[in-house]
Amino acid sequence: MWVHMFMVSSILLGPDAMYFVTRLFEGEPIFGRRVPLIVSLIAAAVLLLFVVHAVTALRKAPASFAEYRAMHGHVRVFSHPDTLLWLLQVVTGFVLMLLAVAHLYQMLLNPADIGPYASADRVWSGRWWPLYLILLFAVELHGGIGVYRLAVKWGWFTDRHGRIPRKRLVRAKWALTTFFLVLGLLTLGAYMKLGYEHRHDAGERYVPSAAAASHEARHPTWKSSTPTY
Ligand code: HEM
Repeated sequence: MWVHMFMVSSILLGPDAMYFVTRLFEGEPIFGRRVPLIVSLIAAAVLLLFVVHAVTALRKAPASFAEYRAMHGHVRVFSHPDTLLWLLQVVTGFVLMLLAVAHLYQMLLNPADIGPYASADRVWSGRWWPLYLILLFAVELHGGIGVYRLAVKWGWFTDRHGRIPRKRLVRAKWALTTFFLVLGLLTLGAYMKLGYEHRHDAGERYVPSAAAASHEARHPTWKSSTPTY
């Protein structure tokens, strides 16, 4: 997800940068043409991983009312921050199951519909931004807590006395989560802004400035509608 966030946030460097990243994932620099099937295959692999993770993780979530009551009693008595984190894990996991599948389905079946205009139009004119806003918080919290719990469980950063530096791990976890939330909010804001500016031409595909410039040079009357970003 962190790699995904860096790729999607390429829009912050301008539409040309996001266009380049999109074409890279379609294999254009290698095959000399767009192969959107590559994106579908990646989406299918992520979806499979997602389902396996959800099915295995669900075994740990409370499955009956009695278990829920027992868990709530536990949370109240201990009120240990890590127990609350686990509860947040269950809630965000549930949200991810609902929302991430919709996003993955879109990417799996419409892999060629990614790009500066295509993504911005989907986010703004297609009204996907509320889903992305909730999904962003759910995935960054869930991923951050997950990595933190693994680090504690497997003692990744145990010091030479065998102690787990929990306080430092918690600080690192919140620093990472805050970084990716801020990056994600800026990115979503950028797609919404571009989508709003492009709302009257929604559906038109983005032409990178280099291609637009050379086309314009060959056809002086043609004018691209790239907005001033
Ligand atoms: C291979 C699978 C995936 C592909 C190809 C993909 C592609 C994209 C693209 C192109 C965008 C930009 C907006 C758009 O075009 O609609 C986006 C946004 C987003 N995706 Fe994915 N995605 C994938 C998997 C996931 C998964 C599994 C999650 C969460 C569990 C996720 C969470 C998000 C979020 C939160 C945003 C909004 C980012 C922001 O603007 O802050 N994506 N994704």
